[in-house]
Amino acid sequence: MIITATRHSNHAASLCENTEPTIRLVLRFAVLLVTILLLTAACSSVDPNATAPEVFEQTCARCHGISMAGGTGPALGPGSAAETKPDESLLSAITNGRARMPSFRNQLSEPQIRGLVQYIRTVQGDG
Ligand code: HEC
Repeated sequence: MIITATRHSNHAASLCENTEPTIRLVLRFAVLLVTILLLTAACSSVDPNATAPEVFEQTCARCHGISMAGGTGPALGPGSAAETKPDESLLSAITNGRARMPSFRNQLSEPQIRGLVQYIRTVQGDG
């Protein structure tokens, strides 16, 4: 058996011979890109009318636990290290991210982030 590796067609070259498929390809990429951007935007924005507990549940609870007892992320509630830290430190962690915690600068507005810190203080006070 003889295996011959022939490369008769060069894809890049054949695309350039005729501009129409090239344009179609570019358009297809553009549509794909726009779709991805729209999906990303839809997933990353948090309802601006959501209350702080709702934002926490949707955005933070998967790592910090719904009652802030901790999980992937540290506890934030009563008796936690976060309780002893100033508001600015918590604001900075949420806004800029810290270690394995992602930044929420692009998903949450500043008032939403301040609302979360207030909510964390409320939960800490409950303990
Ligand atoms: C992907 C998991 C993850 C998500 C989602 C997440 N965090 Fe975190 N968070 C962490 C980790 C891990 C740390 C610890 C970072 C470090 O090592 O300093 C942390 C740290 C913090 C701290 C600082 C705690 C301290 O003791 O200084 C605060 C405050 C905080 N997160 C609040 C939030 C809030 C509010 C949200 C939702 C907007 C959120 N986190 C979403 C994982 C997460």
